[in-house]
Amino acid sequence: MNIGGTLIAGPAKGPLQGRITVPGDKSMSHRAVMLAALADGVTEIHGFLPGEDNISTAQMFIDMGVQVEWLNEAKTSLRIHGVGLHGLKAPAGVLDAGNAGTCVRLMTGVLAGQSFTSTVSGDASLRQRPMKRVVDPVRRMGAVVEGAAGGDLLPLTISGGHLHAIDHLSAVASAQVKSCVLLAGLYADGITTVREPKPSRDHTERMLPLFGQPVDVAPDGLISLLPANRLTAPDGAVLIPADPSSACFFAVAASLVKGSDVTLNSIGVNPRRDGWRRVMLGMGATMRLDHAHAVGEEPVADVRVQAGGLHGMHVDAADVPDAIDEFPVLFAAAALADGEFVLADAAELRVKESDRIAAMATALQAAGAEVEEKPDGAVIRGVASLQGDVDVDAHGDHRIAMAMAVAAQRADGEIRIHNAAAIATSFPNFVPLAQRIGMNVRWSEG
Ligand code: S3P
Repeated sequence: MNIGGTLIAGPAKGPLQGRITVPGDKSMSHRAVMLAALADGVTEIHGFLPGEDNISTAQMFIDMGVQVEWLNEAKTSLRIHGVGLHGLKAPAGVLDAGNAGTCVRLMTGVLAGQSFTSTVSGDASLRQRPMKRVVDPVRRMGAVVEGAAGGDLLPLTISGGHLHAIDHLSAVASAQVKSCVLLAGLYADGITTVREPKPSRDHTERMLPLFGQPVDVAPDGLISLLPANRLTAPDGAVLIPADPSSACFFAVAASLVKGSDVTLNSIGVNPRRDGWRRVMLGMGATMRLDHAHAVGEEPVADVRVQAGGLHGMHVDAADVPDAIDEFPVLFAAAALADGEFVLADAAELRVKESDRIAAMATALQAAGAEVEEKPDGAVIRGVASLQGDVDVDAHGDHRIAMAMAVAAQRADGEIRIHNAAAIATSFPNFVPLAQRIGMNVRWSEG
């Protein structure tokens, strides 16, 4: 786990201003590498997120014999020499997902399709996260998976090959589960289907056709996939839009700091990722979209946010999966909004990189916010400003660290955010970009 690293944040010294480009989408960066590695031919990817999580995914394929060529020093462009669906080689050692839940859960599907045995593990945080949600379906497909706690915890040892198609009814609205089953389904002997309780992010369904593999999504939400004989590298490069989950930190900061006016370039506005904007608009944010266009199969737009009096709201349960990664920073917004903010039906937040309900409630309370924890959400009553000169713990969770850095912009002194180094997993240049729009945040040198 990325323990260590202290951020010193807040208060903002003036309005936040400017136009910035945040890095590429984390979810899509994982998927692009996976599909490119499993395709026949060479795929170029631009807009790749060079965060630690995505580097873990690339490294796993390097460990299984795939050639990855970095095309620039920033590691945002790369060329992957695909080995085909059956071309991976057994890795010499344990495949390490680091902190990346998406990497390990999607790779469980890929590894279930291989005719060799492999072991995957991760850091201390990932080793505590539930894996049965992906282990159960690939076992039903015929893979043999061994792991701690009956296969619920890493490390997992996966012996795959000869998979059967299944109809999977997922208990959770999870794109990681859905994508694991679809990736394993590429190797199955018939039509694989997945049904979810609510729709989750659909990047896998959008990206597979670029590699020549159709995915059928019925009007009632049933997703069906035929077995693939092969995936083929797309004719053009795979272009990855900027990550809405990173953009939202600056959008909330701009809403909270008086006089601010910030534009975030070419942000993914796929409806399955756009719940954070629906929540913010519901809270009264001044936000508009400009220059809407498509990047590959994904809708994007510039998001302009101006400061405005936010108020509380009851989050619609239907928006929860579409904003699942943004709740830490939406809690920060709620803590400084007028009135009451109520979130329910979001127990999944307790099994992310940290227990995000507990981590945000504790950190915000330490700074004087009124947060009542619920088993599946929280009730937050806004205050005018947070207290400064306090210490909070990000628990090695990137999004807790960045959410508290945003909240601190409306504190009456500095907030010290400990165990914040994990920001590097998803947003390595968060601090310089935050400083560029005028946020008061820096790494402690101590
Ligand atoms: C992701 C899916 C979500 C999300 C995670 C990325 C993905 O997890 O929280 O950060 O890329 O598929 P769940 O599918 O478990 O909800």
